[in-house]
Amino acid sequence: MQKQVSKIGVLTSGGDSPGMNAAIRAVVRTGLYYNLEVFGIMRGYMGMIDDDIVPMHSRSVANIIQRGGTILKSARCKEFYEPEGRKKAYENLRKHGIEGLVVIGGDGSFRGAQKFSTEYDIPCIGLPGTIDKDMAGTDFTIGFDTAVNTAVEAIDKIRDTADAHDRLFIIEVMGRDSGYIALHSGIATGAENVLIPEAKTNIEDLIVSLEDKQRRKKLVNIIVVAEGDEFGGAEEVAKVVRTRLPDMDTRVCILGHIQRGGSPSCMDRLVASRLGYAAVESLQEGRHNVMVGIVNNKLHYTPLDSAVKAKQKIDKEWLKILKILAS
Ligand code: F6P
Repeated sequence: MQKQVSKIGVLTSGGDSPGMNAAIRAVVRTGLYYNLEVFGIMRGYMGMIDDDIVPMHSRSVANIIQRGGTILKSARCKEFYEPEGRKKAYENLRKHGIEGLVVIGGDGSFRGAQKFSTEYDIPCIGLPGTIDKDMAGTDFTIGFDTAVNTAVEAIDKIRDTADAHDRLFIIEVMGRDSGYIALHSGIATGAENVLIPEAKTNIEDLIVSLEDKQRRKKLVNIIVVAEGDEFGGAEEVAKVVRTRLPDMDTRVCILGHIQRGGSPSCMDRLVASRLGYAAVESLQEGRHNVMVGIVNNKLHYTPLDSAVKAKQKIDKEWLKILKILAS
């Protein structure tokens, strides 16, 4: 157990996600409740290196719980991966007297925190903030629920026009290494198939099943592809489909960064608020270098080094369910 802290910093790092603001608000207000001084660090680790660090007050986080993005801004910072960068960052934290950090981000951000905290005696608490939901040690990541609901809303709209024209739509959703948005949105919109990085894509099977649908005159079809699927994304899949099934009226839609923005869902606001509060409690209790998550509706603490190594596994039974229900 470490010494108690009296000044803490909070930052958001990596790809932003809806609910980060709610998490910042919870960290700041819980910190103030415990009479801590709270500092906002701008643009993730970049702000630590450039000394872009500002005191936060209760009013600094007013009217943000409902806003997407992050008031602290976010960045991916290569310099922080060099010892020189981390040294500068440490010196700036020392200058402000900051003794503990809350890092809201994905596994890249936690890798940075892990390195930093093994070199310098500053406890870091990670909060899983990513739309990709690709982190072990938590059932929820801040932003996933909003992102997947944005995808569902978009796919429902696409289905209307697909239905009007009897078309096949191949829709690409985000997920460089993770198929969660694709899987969840695909099941929730009744997609015919979902292609994800966690399962090998058998393009032949896909063609055979589309041929079967053509024979059965089922002409309205939706395929959801995660951008990180090893076959190469929606455009690549469409190329093969157009060549092999020229009679199918095929269109591609790439949803892109629309999935990263927008007002966070109620679920993301709740998860962010609970985790932000828990991060400060963790620092108060002297916890060191853990990610706080929620498992089975209870707070769950995973050492940062395990959190960066492990990935949340996708239960392949979901793919079976999707295929049965889409027949
Ligand atoms: O936030 C994670 C993620 O959404 C990935 O799924 C995606 O590949 C990546 O961000 C893209 O982020 P950026 O455009 O910021 O590099």
